[in-house]
Amino acid sequence: MLTPAFLDELRARTTLSSVIAPHVKLTRAGREWKACCPFHNEKTPSFTVNDEKHFYHCFGCSAHGDAIRFLTDHLGLPFMDAVKELASAANLEVPAADPRSQERAKRQATLHDVMADAQAWFAEQLDGIDGAEARAYCQKRGIGAGAIKRFGIGFAPDRRNGLRKALERHGDARLVECGLLISIEDEPKKEPYDRFRGRLMIPIRDQRGRVIGFGGRILGAGEPKYLNSPETVLFDKGSSLYAIDRAGPASRQARRLIVVEGYMDVIGLDRAGIAEVVAPNGTALTERQLELLWRLDPSPILCFDGDKAGSKAAIRAATRALPMLGPERTLSFVTLPEGQDPDDLVTSGGREAVEALLGRPEPLVDRLWRHEVDSTPLATPEQRAGLKQRLLDHAAAIADRSLSQLYRDEWMDRFFALNRRERPAFEPRSPGQSPQRRGSWVRGKGFVPPEKPLEDATRQIGRESVGPQEARAIAAGLAAYPDLIAEEFDLLAALPFADPSAEALKQRLLDAALHDALDSQALQPILADERTASLLLEVQRGTNVIFSFNRSETDPARGRADLKLVIELLGAKREIAAALGAMEAEVLEREEAVTERLRLQLTLHDLNRKLVDLTSSD
Ligand code: UTP
Ligand code: MN
Repeated sequence: MLTPAFLDELRARTTLSSVIAPHVKLTRAGREWKACCPFHNEKTPSFTVNDEKHFYHCFGCSAHGDAIRFLTDHLGLPFMDAVKELASAANLEVPAADPRSQERAKRQATLHDVMADAQAWFAEQLDGIDGAEARAYCQKRGIGAGAIKRFGIGFAPDRRNGLRKALERHGDARLVECGLLISIEDEPKKEPYDRFRGRLMIPIRDQRGRVIGFGGRILGAGEPKYLNSPETVLFDKGSSLYAIDRAGPASRQARRLIVVEGYMDVIGLDRAGIAEVVAPNGTALTERQLELLWRLDPSPILCFDGDKAGSKAAIRAATRALPMLGPERTLSFVTLPEGQDPDDLVTSGGREAVEALLGRPEPLVDRLWRHEVDSTPLATPEQRAGLKQRLLDHAAAIADRSLSQLYRDEWMDRFFALNRRERPAFEPRSPGQSPQRRGSWVRGKGFVPPEKPLEDATRQIGRESVGPQEARAIAAGLAAYPDLIAEEFDLLAALPFADPSAEALKQRLLDAALHDALDSQALQPILADERTASLLLEVQRGTNVIFSFNRSETDPARGRADLKLVIELLGAKREIAAALGAMEAEVLEREEAVTERLRLQLTLHDLNRKLVDLTSSD
């Protein structure tokens, strides 16, 4: 027993400074030791250790405690581990258990008896005269005698003192403590009464099969549909899972674990011969429940109702799991048809329908992606930026650093592919639109957008040459504004024109402008060349797309500016198309890596299974 006397003895036999010294640099200060405090950030020491009084104290942050406290607070050891470590150093025997936990264990044991008796009584009532309606209800829902027995289902008659009388021997206090009776605290004269009345009683058991609570379903319509046991010494909702006692062994056999939303889903799947199923008790999955699940299976399948609430619950579980994910700790998801729960699915489609869905669960990485992509429209850059941020946030929530990076990579690959798809197609602007709204091409920087980024440049992505229409318009434009030929020389040279006449004319003009910028006057002799003149004529005649620079009445400054802009836009398009081409190859490679990773994970999972099987068979 860990008595105060034992703890005093332990403290007395321990030299505190020698416990702290390995972790903190101590210096002598009279009868004490001084150090920079390990519990807060400081430059001048305000942390003192007093070996005679067996405590440390910090004048800066008020951290205070003994050797046990130092080990629990500084090193994070559990209390008992700290005690054991100090005791062995001090050559002391650690007593078995402390009186409080012994007391608690004793109390729990008696409450377990009460719960077991209550469950037996409810089961009796279901078989008795009072249980006719409840039996009919079970029959209607397809809950047969076998299931009633396996799940220990019972019935609480619609009486205020049914259970209370039947379990009188345990006394009101204990029945209240178990949550079976309701006592009215404000009016002590009023007697406690049965909490569950007129309900089908579904016992909730712990991993060892002991009843710790009940879910009571109303037989007809009414509120609440389920009345559950309150939290008690035995029943901690967030740490327990309905049917875990059955699902544990079954999951080992089936090599999978299914999580559903409700009691009736567990019972329904049992009808289809699927026993590796648990349910949280009407709340979102907690961290503790996730831990329990992962002890049984590295990738439990969440099979929640096909409605808004079900998908919300799935996403909550997914996001809650993120910080805890690891190579052997993930979740997968099955989405049920709209408006159905697993119980309905068994009724309508039998085991086959269920297995068809369970056979191809969606990995966490896909489920979250799908949720985020579906949750908002993605028509504008702002909306897509929001999506990107949400994905990055999810990835950042993963504590496992390499996993976090892998999620990030995968989501970003998908995001950029989607971003390209979702961008609206370019609508050609009328030539009358003011040029300053359009953006410009800056050498070395690329296309600099004024307001709407890049949308303009996406129309012909993948097509690297300038289309025949534009090509002819530009070639004709160059003859009208010849000084641009030298100015945009590199760009024009790099831009293949899809129209042969336009391309030939461009080449001739470039040849002529190789050393000197051309003006209209210098252009005359070149155009006098017969071949060039006929090319120009062809190009001018064949121009269907008319830009401002193709019209003689256009203000020359405006025409020149527009021509320059069109050339630069086409250059930007080509550059982006090239970048995308390179990215496409990368994405393909990445996809192969992802598939390979999945294959390796499955193999690892399988090996682990085999290992577990070997250890559990004796
Ligand atoms: P559902 O409403 O999906 O119930 O709630 P269900 O399990 O499908 O039951 P049936 O088929 O309608 O009979 C899912 C779970 O939420 C909790 C219960 O744990 C339930 O199994 N719940 C629901 C409550 O605790 N109280 C309620 O009033 C309703
Ligand atoms: Mn249901």
